[in-house]
Amino acid sequence: MRLPLRLNLTHLATATLALAAFGAHAQATGPVKVGFMLPYTGTYASLGNMIESGFKLYVQEQGGKLGGREIQYFKVDDESEPSKATDNVGKLIKRDNVDVLVGTVHSGVALAMAKAAKESNTLLIIPNAGADAITGAMCGANIVRSSFSNWQPAYAMGKVAADKGAKKAITITWNYAAGAESVKGFTEAFEKGGGKVVKDLNLPFPGVEFQALLTEIAAQKPDAVYAFFAGGGAVKFVKDYAAAGLNKAIPLYGPGFLTDGTLEAQGAAAQGMLTTLHYADNLDTPRNNAFRKSFALTYKSQADVYAVQGYDAAQILAAGLNAVKGDLSKRDALTAAMRKVVVDSPRGKFTISPAGNPVQDIYLREARGNNNEYRSIAIKALADPARGCKL
Ligand code: BEZ
Repeated sequence: MRLPLRLNLTHLATATLALAAFGAHAQATGPVKVGFMLPYTGTYASLGNMIESGFKLYVQEQGGKLGGREIQYFKVDDESEPSKATDNVGKLIKRDNVDVLVGTVHSGVALAMAKAAKESNTLLIIPNAGADAITGAMCGANIVRSSFSNWQPAYAMGKVAADKGAKKAITITWNYAAGAESVKGFTEAFEKGGGKVVKDLNLPFPGVEFQALLTEIAAQKPDAVYAFFAGGGAVKFVKDYAAAGLNKAIPLYGPGFLTDGTLEAQGAAAQGMLTTLHYADNLDTPRNNAFRKSFALTYKSQADVYAVQGYDAAQILAAGLNAVKGDLSKRDALTAAMRKVVVDSPRGKFTISPAGNPVQDIYLREARGNNNEYRSIAIKALADPARGCKL
């Protein structure tokens, strides 16, 4: 027998409410679904693996729970491939229905993730990619970064190079958002300090055919070279620079990605190199020493900056989940807590800006053996300018 329409709608509304209530209840008791979208193949593969390891280490140290909730992991290899990014992030948002996205390393891929996170209002914690726009014009309450903006370490290196008296510099990088923004940040501070960038050299990501560009550097004889490369590409570049004999004549500077997680493979070619970053391996603090010991015991390998950023991404999520006792439906309180947290990081304590980016000390480091050793604070509590962010 067909029921009158009004009765059908009433029943439907009641059923919907019940389902919603069940959903909210389920949200506060089942596992929190964390979706890693990271590179597990290609030139940034080791960075992706370190981030995942760091994140899981923090969760493990909390007994496997954050905000009283178990954590369930999902993962997608983004291959550092921007053209696949929208499809890949869709797998985590729509297929796996994750509560939180954690990713990624490559700025071009992260820009697509941020767009998808905004459109679906999914929480996004960025554990590396520095794309300035993500905590600039694209900023949003549901997006927070545990790493850096591309501008931050680059700006600090521009200041250091100018303070060292370099007048004429050449930059070299991959031709994509991170490289371009890193060069821009370096140039801003270097030219403010009286230097001049006379040439910007680049090649497509993730290419490693450096020879012609190194020949051009040798011909131009600048006072300094500033390079943005990371992962496998950084290993090859630093070795090629030394093999061309350039390291004896022209100091090679960069953001710390040039020598982080890569020193063992770079060997003698990297020794003595100065870089700027928000982490140094040998920071002699109880927090860093405990973290490095715990990481080494768990994974039988040494932590690097990427592991720190993954660890801190989990700390930021924990701050949010603890504030709402694991109840993800209390979204405003959760995202506010993720902004208010003072992260007790292995890098040193840092805060999060209103735009969602770390406000942090940038260190000058020197490569010695397999460590990027602390030398000084290049710039204290450096905040990204967050250009274009309107919240
Ligand atoms: C980036 O694409 O934003 C990036 C990649 C590796 C290291 C640092 C930044």
